[in-house]
Amino acid sequence: MPLSIHMSHCKASAPAKVILFGEHFVVYGSPAILAAINKHISVDARTTIHDEDKIVIRSDIGVAGEYWHNGEFFNALEGGKKAKAVLDPLYRAIRQVLSKRNNKNIGIEVDISSKVPPGIGLGSSAASCVATVAAVYSLFQKNPSRQKVCEFAIESERLIHKRTSGADCYVSTFGGLMQYYSKSRRFKNIETKGSLSLVVANTGIKHSTSDLVAGVKRFKDTNKILFESLAKQASDICLQACTAIESGKYDKVGELMNENQILLQQIGISHHKVHDIIEICSKAGAMGAKITGAGGGGAVIALAASKQESTKIASHVKAAGYQSFEVKIDYDGLSF
Ligand code: MEV
Repeated sequence: MPLSIHMSHCKASAPAKVILFGEHFVVYGSPAILAAINKHISVDARTTIHDEDKIVIRSDIGVAGEYWHNGEFFNALEGGKKAKAVLDPLYRAIRQVLSKRNNKNIGIEVDISSKVPPGIGLGSSAASCVATVAAVYSLFQKNPSRQKVCEFAIESERLIHKRTSGADCYVSTFGGLMQYYSKSRRFKNIETKGSLSLVVANTGIKHSTSDLVAGVKRFKDTNKILFESLAKQASDICLQACTAIESGKYDKVGELMNENQILLQQIGISHHKVHDIIEICSKAGAMGAKITGAGGGGAVIALAASKQESTKIASHVKAAGYQSFEVKIDYDGLSF
């Protein structure tokens, strides 16, 4: 029996993220430390009565398209060939909700508005999936469970990044600063002493997370023993970082970020622009800096001793010609 429509218009918003420790190794079971940040993706979903079975998705990053006949047909309304690749996971997110709710033939329109630069490791695709699932789900059920939203979002993300650890969707859904365990798909909130002053810097080099994760898999398969040892070091760093954050030893956290960066270099996902930015951050007084997310360029995260210091670091990075901004931890996660 199809469920009745609860509302014909719903909104949801989900935050982007930074990974402070453990990216890539988290795919193979090591823990990771992530934080949701105050940059959001908002989604507005509506049911349409005239066009049953047509799903229209528009995003302000310059892509739009319509799907009909159970996704058999697609027409790009904006963004040409790129549109389908960007929109497919979101289409899948919507279909999953519709099929689980037994509302297969219903028209849906979704508008996505993003404050997150895409393709640089800040979790824009996870946040889009989380907010899309939540907005569409809310059309049929009041306050759907966050856990369910997160699971659907992970399944949708899997379409573009099949080995996903689920970390990005978890932090975007639940918010805050967390230690994440991919094996059990569980997380633990980390209490901070004082606030973390964080700066993001963008190399301007976009990446494909799934290509980078595939590259790390090749590295792992050809360097089994070395990878095991690096993964063990990554786990140790992450556990030490958790204790250091909880006890407010931020200079130690910075040191551990630098150590984590060396591991990321060893698995081949760094870039000379990353090194350039890390050097600028460190000369400007950062306590530590590293890649955040999949790497291959993408974004760098730096830890500063204070708000004043993070402003200084961001301005040094900008003066060198890179985009840079300070970020705050978002403790709310998904809202709808
Ligand atoms: C991407 O934001 C983080 C990676 O560890 C991949 C994943 O966890 O799925 C590179």
